Amino acid sequence: MHPGPAPARVGERLSVMDASPAVLYRKDGPVAWVTLNRPQALNAYNLEMRDELYATLEAVRDDPEVRGMVLSGSGERAFCAGADLTEFGTAPSQAIARQVRWERDVWGLFLALEKPLIAALHGYVLGSGVEMALLCDLRIASEDAVFGLPETALGMVPAAGATQTLPRTLGMPRALELLLTGRRLSAAEAWQLGLVTRVVPRPQLMEEVSQAMECILEADSQALALAKRAVLQGLDRPLAEGLALEERLAAGLLLRRKGGRAGRNG
Ligand code: COA
Repeated sequence: MHPGPAPARVGERLSVMDASPAVLYRKDGPVAWVTLNRPQALNAYNLEMRDELYATLEAVRDDPEVRGMVLSGSGERAFCAGADLTEFGTAPSQAIARQVRWERDVWGLFLALEKPLIAALHGYVLGSGVEMALLCDLRIASEDAVFGLPETALGMVPAAGATQTLPRTLGMPRALELLLTGRRLSAAEAWQLGLVTRVVPRPQLMEEVSQAMECILEADSQALALAKRAVLQGLDRPLAEGLALEERLAAGLLLRRKGGRAGRNG
């Protein structure tokens, strides 16, 4: 299923077409292959990438033919080396920066996607690279991957969700240790801590990711979406409320199925 490098962008939704998009998009059957594409800057996340990624995620969300998404980084050296350091402090004003974040809430859009998301991680996975990966459901890394959250060392607070998603993924003590020290982790340690779900040899990364997605997509899309919703929404509720949510979603799906069958039968 893995189609190799993704050649196209989400043309219709983007106002400006240029020769080197910061995000590549390719649809292969039910899978959207989304690739961060600034290899010359180790796929550092800049404004252009933010806008293109936002448009791409909207396309993934709205396309009924797309049932799952893989996010990866182009080039040999990195999935993403974090926010683009050259853009720090360049926003015209705090107010405008905040307004744009509000209008194009990329991280919120990731979390709202009810389709399965897999992050394929290789090379440097730093700062917002880790944070984007944390917004995906599965994180599969190659053996050469190196992880780290250098924000606090740079005098910043992670702003793509890591202060919330990392403790939910690793537990508070481990999350705090990584956020406060900014130390680097190998793929093996990332796996031991539970930051990634699997580590594979570099040449096999995309094939493994492709197979994992294929395996997930054997399941019914509605069941996948509702299971994901139960987990993500349930996490922030007391157990009893989470269980009630699960029951509601499971019963709702059964009812819809029965309704569908009854409709077909009679
Ligand atoms: N923002 C902007 N450009 C970046 C970048 C970032 N976060 N990370 C790497 N780049 C650019 C470099 O400036 C360099 O560009 P150049 O060839 O035009 O000089 C290119 O990517 C290659 O990086 P380089 O630093 O030469 O590679 P390296 O192997 O010596 O080091 C890293 C790799 C990842 C250790 C180093 O690039 C680095 O520390 N990057 C910043 C990581 C970071 O702090 N991210 C911000 C998190 S909030």
